[in-house]
Amino acid sequence: MNDSELVALALEARERAYVPYSHWSVGAALLDDEGRVWQGCNIENAAYTPSNCAERTAFFKAISEGATTFAAIAVVGGPEGQPTRGYCAPCGVCRQVMREFCDKDSFRVILGDSVLEPKPYLLRDILPESFGPEDLGFAAPQGA
Ligand code: THU
Repeated sequence: MNDSELVALALEARERAYVPYSHWSVGAALLDDEGRVWQGCNIENAAYTPSNCAERTAFFKAISEGATTFAAIAVVGGPEGQPTRGYCAPCGVCRQVMREFCDKDSFRVILGDSVLEPKPYLLRDILPESFGPEDLGFAAPQGA
């Protein structure tokens, strides 16, 4: 699974976004260490706060089905019903969820687009000086 293939699966997931309020559809494709891909989309709610981002949908699907270690996530987003027009970076809450379950020094966050080349980052570079499980005395995410 290369970065472009993972972005293609994120673009596919984006088609299923439920975004009647923001009209901003996001898709994610999370690659676990067994080679499985977990897709997610954003799912909004009339009460607003119960809304869930695409990235967290992918993580919560994966973890609830038994996946434990992760290699990379591709993220795409843009105006509903249109091709993406540039990169869509994960929000701070989603970065913190990644920090809970991933090794910040090896987990890759790949920003995707329908035209532009995939743009990879390490989690540590988009969430510097972060707080995580080991700060509370718990085991660090796998690989750390
Ligand atoms: N959104 C995501 O799904 N992921 C991100 O990283 C950025 C924001 C969603 C939340 C909301 O449904 C919509 O995009 C507009 O903020």
